[in-house]
Amino acid sequence: MVSRRTFLTTSGLLASGVIGAVANEFVRGPSRVSETSIGDAQVEPTGVNQAGVELELQTLTRFIALDIKPGTDKSAMLRWMSLITDDITRLAAGQAALADPNEYGASNPARLTVTVGFGPSLFEKLGLTDAMPVGFGDLPSFKIDQLVEADSHGDVLLHVSGDDPLTLSHAARTLVRDSADFATVRWVHGGFTNSQGVERPGKTQRNLMGQVDGTDNPALGSEDFENLVWIKEGPAWAIGGTQLALRKIRMELDTWDSLSSTSREEVIGRRLSDGAPLGGNSETDPPNLSAVDAKGLKVIPSFAHIRRAAGESLDERFFRRPFNYEDVAGNGIESGMLWTAYAKNLEKQYLPVQKRLAEFDLLNKWTTPVASATFAIARGFKPGEIIAQELFA
Ligand code: HEM
Repeated sequence: MVSRRTFLTTSGLLASGVIGAVANEFVRGPSRVSETSIGDAQVEPTGVNQAGVELELQTLTRFIALDIKPGTDKSAMLRWMSLITDDITRLAAGQAALADPNEYGASNPARLTVTVGFGPSLFEKLGLTDAMPVGFGDLPSFKIDQLVEADSHGDVLLHVSGDDPLTLSHAARTLVRDSADFATVRWVHGGFTNSQGVERPGKTQRNLMGQVDGTDNPALGSEDFENLVWIKEGPAWAIGGTQLALRKIRMELDTWDSLSSTSREEVIGRRLSDGAPLGGNSETDPPNLSAVDAKGLKVIPSFAHIRRAAGESLDERFFRRPFNYEDVAGNGIESGMLWTAYAKNLEKQYLPVQKRLAEFDLLNKWTTPVASATFAIARGFKPGEIIAQELFA
């Protein structure tokens, strides 16, 4: 499926005229693209919104947080963002960044996206707290948290995703190299989903616990998505942007695996085989939270994740775009999820749900948040503009 933002530079699509205009808009000069549909696929980096949020999961992701150097003031931020905007435009089109020592590293764009955001600490350091969008800030601490400070927070986020490991690695390296005069890397969290072509496009993926994860989510390209995710009012740099809560959540897979399938289904409130809510027939059936069985017991138990996570009002909804992670160190593997919530107002939409889950959710027995950060994602940019130019002007 070709999403709103994605197109392939195959002759068929170009000849159809459907995407030709878009392709020519940002591809400058000869591009060296590969000859497969996965390698060639490009995501338009310009537009009302930044790329990398409203699109189907890419195979790989890297969240890179940086802290600014002492001399980095607003004008330095603008210079940095100018460089980064140029890099993003070129890399997304399969072209080398300026002065790239590995000029072939970008040849397969493979749906590369780079999304730029700013943490609460940046606004504080630069005296810009008045320019934060409504509902944005640091999260309170929750009793389930065991956060590693050095893996959490951060001034600036460069979130890189794509379908090819070499392209992703090259893009991340390019962006970090071009950031070196302005900031140092604070942490990097890398994650993955199914490889492209493994699952039917549009099918909800499974996470490392084996659950179908991402069912109850606003649909890409829908009015619902538009209303829940993209900021409509406030500072100009943020209109068309969004807010991101990133939670790195470790999973205790060994003890989880020892549960019976029935217990695992009750913890979530959905069937393992197809993700249908307990008592329902198919994945997309709405969960019936008032159903009881012959003994009068709730079909979806009181402790079930989906019961506790269900919004108590229509405001308490957001977009989840989860990636899996595996940190391999020595002879051990830590597994989990790089869990994300995108909302136009984190305080109103995400925080009440997170508080409720932190208070009580049986899933907490097998999951532990180990890192956490929030970032305000800037609006999209047009050709010739600089990401967040109004913020640092
Ligand atoms: C590793 C941690 C987590 C795992 C494994 C997990 C897993 C799942 C699964 C399997 C579902 C059901 C399918 C779906 O609708 O996507 C679900 C639903 C959901 N989860 Fe999580 N989740 C985790 C963390 C969180 C956190 C931290 C939040 C919010 C603070 C959250 C909020 C939600 C919401 C809002 C739903 C939809 C509920 C509904 O049906 O109304 N989840 N999760």
